[in-house]
Order: sequence, then C-alpha cells, then structure tokens
Amino acid sequence: MSTNPSETNNPLSYDDLEIVKASLRRCLANPEFLDRFYKNFTSMSAQIAEQFKNTNFAFQKIMLKSSLHIMVTMASGGMQNSDAMDKLATVHNRDHRNIKPEWYYDWLDALMKTIREIDPQYNASIDQLWRTAMQPGIAYMQSKY
Ligand code: HEM
Repeated sequence: MSTNPSETNNPLSYDDLEIVKASLRRCLANPEFLDRFYKNFTSMSAQIAEQFKNTNFAFQKIMLKSSLHIMVTMASGGMQNSDAMDKLATVHNRDHRNIKPEWYYDWLDALMKTIREIDPQYNASIDQLWRTAMQPGIAYMQSKY
C-alpha cells in the first residue's frame, strides 16, 4: 500500500490512518461510546433531535458502528463508488431523510466531542487526523444531497 497520499486520493498517510483506526478501536471498546455520541449529537440542536424522534437506537447504534468503518475506509482513498457508501448517501439525501448538508458539521463536532470524552489517548493531533479522515465521506454525502 502507498504511504504517500499524493499518489492517490487519500488525504492521510497510511500511518496517520492507522492512528485513527486505533482511536476508533479504543472508542468502540467502551460500551458507552455509541450512546454518548447520540446524546451529544441530538444535543447539538432541536432540528437534529427532531430527525431522530422515531429512531430505534439499538438498531441505529449497530448501523453507526459499521458506517464509521466505511467512513474510515473512504479516507484510505477507496469506496467512492462502493455500494455501502452509496446506500449511506441515499438514506440521507433530500428524497429520503432529507439531511441538510450543513448538518454534517454538527455530526463531526458531536463525533469529536465524543471521542474526546472516550478515547484516553485523545489529543489535538488525533482530533485533526480524525477530522481529515472523515472529510471525504462527509463531502461525498453532501455532494449526493
Ligand atoms: C457522515 C455522517 C453520517 C453517517 C456515517 C451516518 C450514518 C447513518 C447510518 C449508518 C444510518 C442507518 C442507515 C440505514 O437505516 O440503512 C443513518 C440513519 C440516519 N441518519 Fe445518519 N449518518 C451521518 C450523518 C447524519 C446527519 C448529519 C444526520 C442529521 C440529523 C443524520 C440523521 C440520520 C437519521 C434521521 C437516520 C434515520 C434514523 C432512523 O432510522 O430513525 N445522519 N445514519
């Protein structure tokens, strides 16, 4: 695998991506992580909370877990044309859940707040790597709105 991001589409080097994946593993190892994320996300605004008023969170948590892996894989330069990423974008687009493109910034902020609370090795540099890693997936979802 290439370690030079300029050779492919990926925004992070192989080593940087490994740092993000290790942080994700530490977060998922804490049973509170997914609950805490939804608590933080739905606290961002009344509009965001409204989107989840009928949500079965047990199911939603399983989906979020797998979608975080998809988002991280997007950062490694793949998945732009994958079925999984396409399905994720479709569920959120204007014809389905109608998730406004600007809400993805709240999603990212809620995610980072949660990682800061849960990952014992959280620091400013991990924060930056995470934000960079989530960018391609977020940009893709926004572009498919
Ligand atoms: C890149 C960021 C995001 C990821 C990875 C993500 C992930 C997911 C996943 C995996 C599902 C389940 C899809 C399914 O049922 O097949 C889902 C559903 C949903 N997402 Fe997102 N999401 C993101 C951003 C957002 C944002 C910004 C909002 C804004 C409020 C949002 C609101 C929802 C809602 C309302 C549902 C449906 C929940 C239900 O079934 O009741 N998502 N999301």
